Amino acid sequence: MAKNLVRNYKEIIDIEDRFGAHNYHPIPVVIARGKGIFVWDIEGKKYYDFLSAYSALNQGHCHPKIINALKKQAEILILTSRAFFNDKLGEYEKFVSEFFGYDMLLPMNTGAEGVETAIKLSRKWGYEKKGIKSNRAKIVVCENNFHGRTIGVISASTDSDCTENFGPFLPGFIKIPYNNPEALEEILKKNGDEVCAFLVEPIQGEAGVIVPDEGYLKKTFEICKKYNALFVADEIQTGIGRTGRLLACDYEKVKPDILILGKAISGGVLPVSAVLANRDIMLVIKPGQHGSTFGGFPLACVVAKAALQVIQDENLTENAEKLGKIFRAEMKKIDSSLIELVRGKGLLNAIVISPSDNLEAWDICIKLAENGLLCKPTHKNIIRFAPPLTITESQLSDAIKIIKKVFAELN
Ligand SMILES: Cc1ncc(COP(=O)(O)O)c(C=O)c1O
Repeated sequence: MAKNLVRNYKEIIDIEDRFGAHNYHPIPVVIARGKGIFVWDIEGKKYYDFLSAYSALNQGHCHPKIINALKKQAEILILTSRAFFNDKLGEYEKFVSEFFGYDMLLPMNTGAEGVETAIKLSRKWGYEKKGIKSNRAKIVVCENNFHGRTIGVISASTDSDCTENFGPFLPGFIKIPYNNPEALEEILKKNGDEVCAFLVEPIQGEAGVIVPDEGYLKKTFEICKKYNALFVADEIQTGIGRTGRLLACDYEKVKPDILILGKAISGGVLPVSAVLANRDIMLVIKPGQHGSTFGGFPLACVVAKAALQVIQDENLTENAEKLGKIFRAEMKKIDSSLIELVRGKGLLNAIVISPSDNLEAWDICIKLAENGLLCKPTHKNIIRFAPPLTITESQLSDAIKIIKKVFAELN
């Protein structure tokens, strides 16, 4: 028995390397426990979590209210499939629909599945409501997007890491530059009869926290309305308070026709995603035409409801806005030739590292980890900083000290 126990760093990393597919390249820290904004590794070293599982842990690790809801429901009913009704799904759908101001919700599990659902819903709406000719529907997407990893979704990608040798791809995507409303208008002017939707991230997270110009969302929304195309927002990373508004689209008072949520909708406790829309759109999907065994399972419904309640009760959106401003202001004060740019909204921020032959964002993340702060590069030269939204001002200033110390040492 003792022989099979894996205890130290090397053994744990080796076993994963040997038996697990190599589809990730993790920072070499082995986490054993999480609470609030902190995690501890197997040796008991404490770290600030400044990744939050790619913004899934907005409510922090193991939030007691969410975990209590999970425990309680786990002893009562976990999964029914949608072959039957369960006593939690409808109540959850009502709660979330009202929370975000929509008529209806379609429950799924992962973010990528949420995006797949939105693609299918948009196409079906295009044929049945807009009158697009059979098999001609197009969806306009943006260059450098990240919407997930399924074949349908990567067909919309322009990132070669996501697509290389995974073809053939799904047709029907038109790729335009991000932050360029004129490009959208041009496509719709030319091809508007066949375009059912424009799919967009309000801030491009994986691309490196690319914040578009003020007015971009509003302009593109209005262009969609002009040409009768759906405005579909992927708020899987930006939603649920992360950017200092409940939804990043709220900054421009844009209400997407289709809203995709994931990650923090369950506080990172279970894979839960949701697609929201009004009845005229949602009801084009009929029984038997779309679904998932786990989508809307009672345990997920209870957990996600508790997780959204935490966002509201603890004013996490407001906290994200306030502390995000402090974070960016402090980062901008750092006098380092390594820093090219600081950008972000709320607590979704990034530092762009100046190009250098001997230092990459990865090396800086390793130094930050050694000093007790975890984050991960996105692309070679960008570090994203996205702590749980439960972080306090004094914890943030402590974390800022770590970041400043690391840049001072590297200078
Ligand atoms: C904007 C966006 N969409 C979709 C996804 C995919 O979500 P998942 O990894 O849960 O499939 C992500 C994940 O990072 C994301 O950031």
